[in-house]
Formats: sequence, structure tokens, C-alpha cells
Amino acid sequence: MIVAPLSRPIVGVIALPGDKSISHRALLFAALCEGPSDIRHLGSGADNKATQHCLRKLGVHVDGEGAHVTVTPPKELRKGPVELDCANSGTSMRLLTGLCAGLGVQATLIGDESLSKRPMRRVAKPLAELGAEIATTDGHAPVTVTPKPLKGATVRLETTSAQVKSAVVLAALFAEEATRLYEPELTRDHTERLMAALGFPLAVEGEDQDGKTAIVVRPFSGVRPKGFAVWVPGDPSSAAFWAVLASLVPGSDVTLIDVSLNPTRTGFVNVLRRMGAQIEVTERGASAGEPWGDLRIRAAEKLEATTVGGHEAHMAIDELPIVMIAMAFAEGRSEITDAGDLRNKESDRIQAMAAVLKALKIDHEVRPDGIAITGVPRDKRAPAQANVEAELDHRIALSAAVAGLIGPAPMSIAGFEAAGVSYGAFLQEVKTLTGEARPPSDAALARRKPITVAIDGPAGAGKSTVSKRLAERLGYTLVDTGAIYRSVALLTLRAGVDPNNAEAVAPIARSVDVRFEQKQGGQSVMCNGEDVTDAIRTPEVSRLASVVSTHRPVRAALLDIQRKLAGVGGAVLEGRDIGTVVFPEAEAKFFLDAAPEERARRRMDELAAKNQAADFETVLHEIRERDARDSARDVAPLKPAADAVLLDSTKLDVPAVVSEMERRVRAKEK
Ligand code: DC
Repeated sequence: MIVAPLSRPIVGVIALPGDKSISHRALLFAALCEGPSDIRHLGSGADNKATQHCLRKLGVHVDGEGAHVTVTPPKELRKGPVELDCANSGTSMRLLTGLCAGLGVQATLIGDESLSKRPMRRVAKPLAELGAEIATTDGHAPVTVTPKPLKGATVRLETTSAQVKSAVVLAALFAEEATRLYEPELTRDHTERLMAALGFPLAVEGEDQDGKTAIVVRPFSGVRPKGFAVWVPGDPSSAAFWAVLASLVPGSDVTLIDVSLNPTRTGFVNVLRRMGAQIEVTERGASAGEPWGDLRIRAAEKLEATTVGGHEAHMAIDELPIVMIAMAFAEGRSEITDAGDLRNKESDRIQAMAAVLKALKIDHEVRPDGIAITGVPRDKRAPAQANVEAELDHRIALSAAVAGLIGPAPMSIAGFEAAGVSYGAFLQEVKTLTGEARPPSDAALARRKPITVAIDGPAGAGKSTVSKRLAERLGYTLVDTGAIYRSVALLTLRAGVDPNNAEAVAPIARSVDVRFEQKQGGQSVMCNGEDVTDAIRTPEVSRLASVVSTHRPVRAALLDIQRKLAGVGGAVLEGRDIGTVVFPEAEAKFFLDAAPEERARRRMDELAAKNQAADFETVLHEIRERDARDSARDVAPLKPAADAVLLDSTKLDVPAVVSEMERRVRAKEK
């Protein structure tokens, strides 16, 4: 693969694939539940596929091949003997070793050439402290697990590794007593966050006498958690490639959406900022116990050298190869220390990156636990092509590709396919974004895949105005689901049926036919052939709509009609439960909110326009009361979906909200 320097800036919005680490863990924890789990935005790389493959070998049903899978555990997992091929994935091998030890599975875990060189004793040893019998092959794969009953223990880990920690945690769930686990240093904490979010028996306890935090795992007490539904936030490690690229290509302005903002993963942001990178972080929501949001990166004037060591080096360990590329383009001498574990990754990343730096003719000094790099800014470089090897390592392949894209000379990368382990689509995405600097051609527009957009939120947040404008901008169908509930309310009223009687209202909901027709000046609501646009907006119908919409059979009856009206993409649906119930698979979800005071003010304006008198305090009180009722009701309560972007119209005006939404939808239409 020859990567040529970019001739134009990268501008636009990128939706990142699901995080690799969180995806592995979500799959494994789903396998330990009693019932099926639903995982969306799963990492699409080969490593996550390896975990799915191994789980299938253990008898777990994993349905769906893409980013959305359903995981259904069998009554009992296979006890083996079984061979689990983890391909290139160290996380799969280490975590599954712990899981098999816990479940008492007789298993042999194997991997590819690169994985077979990676250290496995680090996981065998602490598992042995729980009584597990794990044999490695000279400290490497193949790794064999022989079933043994496990006891609880106090385990002090010697290796700073989230994979080792997680392996012990998985095994400890099946030990006879509780296990206390101490890490030498804090590592990424996805396992702890996910387990806490899913209700698995794990607690993180405060510091003990040596100032360490204990992770306490209690064994399952006969009851396993039921299944769960999670949406996996995007991969910060993939974000790091964009951050360095956009910082160094003049004129660039990229927003990475859906990125996990877990502080144990975003160490690279601090490092790059210290070097002069312009990175803005905005939190947008929380899912699987993880905060997530946007990273906006604008080209930096220039980058300056920095030093990375100690805890910071551990927190950014996977991003250090791409940080080395940033250092190679920075002014001055940078240093990385305390990063000896880089040598134990998919390749010896210190050596592999030294080879890349050598090919780029950048002065550097290799050390046992790091590297020193004397950077040369791009405009002072000689444009000579560099030739490098990916060394079967995705992060080396992608780091080298970024260097080639920055230029000034092309980069030839042997074995670039390794990038597929985490982010095979990277170069394709870069192409799309550099194209976005021009107005999109008809052909580019025609290639877009229309998606389903869900907009939920309380009354008065501005949903109708925003949805209408967004649908116009996108050329999408607008489905006002409130109008469907209102139509049912109108028919209930006319039929003289008691609106509180769910069984009496349900047949009306089952037979109602609502359509939307485009008319001059807007959309008309047709109910059973009659234009009810105005009739459904009376105060009486509004009140009745909020009553009939609380009935479970009514909501169930209206699901089909809402889904039919939306079709298979190219629709904006606004309502209360679109992202959570009607279209949990919607590709873009928004939760539009506004402060109750602001919504009360808007309601006052509406009333004033109709010459109706009202008192602010009373209106505000009603709004607060309804919010509490809507979010507490047990049928489809009003709440943001885990993957919904939270937008607050108190702070943003309508055009700002609409363009924010449009940017995100466009990023997902590709
Ligand atoms: O958005 P609206 O005011 O037109 O909604 C009318 C009523 O229907 C409101 O009381 C909430 C209810 N509704 C609902 O429960 N779920 C939806 N998806 C849409 C509306």
C-alpha cells in the first residue's frame, strides 16, 4: 500500500467505530448472563470477531455479523475440550483464559504468529493464585486451561495490564469466596464500569493501608444477571490517528463523534494538547458506564516537543506509536519513558516505530523503556519516499499511514492489511473527508445511505420545529408520532369511549390509519381519510392524548404504524420513545431538552399568541409535574437512549441545533 500526502485539508464529521476493549468485554459478559443481550455499535475489527468466534465455539449463539449482535448463552456452556483460536487478539486470549478457568472449561487457546510471541505467564500466574491450572508454552500460546475449583484470594498483580486484571475478575466470579485484587497502577477500567452498569457483583473499594484501591469481586450467588442492552461508545485509540492527522494537515477541522471519553483512555489528548494541538472535548452522553462525546480537532499552528513518562505513559500506551509520529513532526527533542510494555504488544512497538522513524530520516534513540525523537516539521523535510513494514501490527500500519498522509513524501507500507484488526476503513474515511471540502457532487449524494433519525424529548424543547427543519434539510420524511397519539385521542373523544379504559381505547389504536400529506405550507395529518391537522391541536385533545398514551396496549398497537411510516431509512421521527422503543436501532438519535423555565416561557408565548391568560409559576409547576410523571411511568418512560446525543435548546438556538444534527446524520449516511 502506498499512501500519498494529502493535497487538501480534512474537514467534516467522522463517526468512529465502537471501542475494541469495551466490545470484547460486552461480548464476554453477555455470555455469562441468563438470557439474550443486545449489543450495538460493536467494534467491527478482526479482534472483536475473534472473541465472537471463540464464544460460538463455547456454544454461545452470536447472531448478526456487523455492528449489531444478539448474544444468547446456552443453558450451559460447553465444557470442552475445545480449541479457541484468538487470531491476533491478545485481549481475547487473556480474557478468555480467565473466563474458561472460571467456568471450568477444558480449553486450548491459540493465536497467530504475532500473538504467539506475546507474554501469557502474566495471566497464568495470578489465575493460579485462585487455584486455576493454566499451562503456557514457554510463557506463550498455546495456553491450556484445565478445570479446577477456584477459591477466593487476595491477588496483588505484578503487571500493569487491564487484560490481566480482567482475566482475574472473570475467573473470580466463579470462585468459592470473594476475591480482592490490587493493581500496581490504575489501568483502563472498562471491565469495572461495565460490570457496575450491568449489575455484576463487583465493587471498587477505597484505599487500604498501602494506599491501594481494591477491586472486590464476589462470586455469582446462583443467580446470573438477565441479559442486557448496551451501545458501545467509539474507540478513542482510533480517534488518536485522526487527532494527529488533523493537527498536522493545515486547514483541517474534524469532529469525531461518539468517542468514549473514559479518562483512562484519553491520556493522548493531554499529551497532544501539551504539544500545541487544538482539541476541544464535549461530553454528549453516557453508555455502558462510560462517558462519551465529541473531539473536535483543528490544525495546529505547530507542534512542540514533549516528554511522556510514568503514569501518563501507561494511560496512553496504545496511542504511543501515533504520538511518536506527532513527535516526529514536532519542533525539538521529545522523550517517551516508562513504556517498556510497548515491546510486548502485537509487535515490539519501540523497534517497529524506530524503523518507521528511520525510514522517515528522523533522528531517534531507542531505549529499553522508550525512545527519544528529534522532530522535524513537515516544511523542513526532504520529500523522499519512505518504505516501512507494518510488522503484523495494526497500530504500526495506521501510524505509518498517518505519516504518509501528512507528507511531504509518500509512504509505502508492506502488510498494511494489519490495520483491519481495529480500523480497516481508516484510509477510506480519510478520502471521504478530504472530498467534503468541495460541495458534494450528485454522484456523492446518490451514494449516501439514508438512515433513521430519532428525536425524543419533553414537550416544549423545540422538537417539532427542529424536526421539521432537519427533515427538509435532509430531504427525509417527517413522522410526527405525537400526531398519531393525538389522532387516537380525537377518535376516542368522538366515540365517547372512556379514555382511561385501556381495553376500550386499544381497538381504536389498532384500527387507526394515520398518514402525512405534503401540502403547501406544511404537512397535513390525515386520520382515516379525514384531514385532522387542526382538530388534533385543541387543548382537550392534547390532554386526552397524554392520557391514552399511558396505556400499554395502545402503545403496542401504534408501534407498527410508526415503523411503517418511517420505512427503511430516510425518516426523521419525533416523539418520546423513538430511540428507546420504536427504533432502538435508529442510526442517529437525539434527545432535545431545555430547562423547565425556558419551556415555561415558550408555553407562555404560545398562550399569549392565542390571547389566553396564564400565570408563569402555574405553567412552570405543570411542566415540572409532567416531566416527573413522564419519566417515572413504567410504560416507555421518557428518557434518553444510551446512544442519544443530548442537546439543550436553552443554550443553542434552532439553527444551531439543526446544523449540529445535520452534521451528525451526514456522517452516518456513508
Ligand atoms: O408531541 P405531542 O405533544 O404532539 O404528543 C402528544 C401526546 O402523545 C403527548 O402527551 C405525549 C404522547 N406521545 C407519546 O407518549 N409518545 C410519542 N412517541 C409521542 C407522543
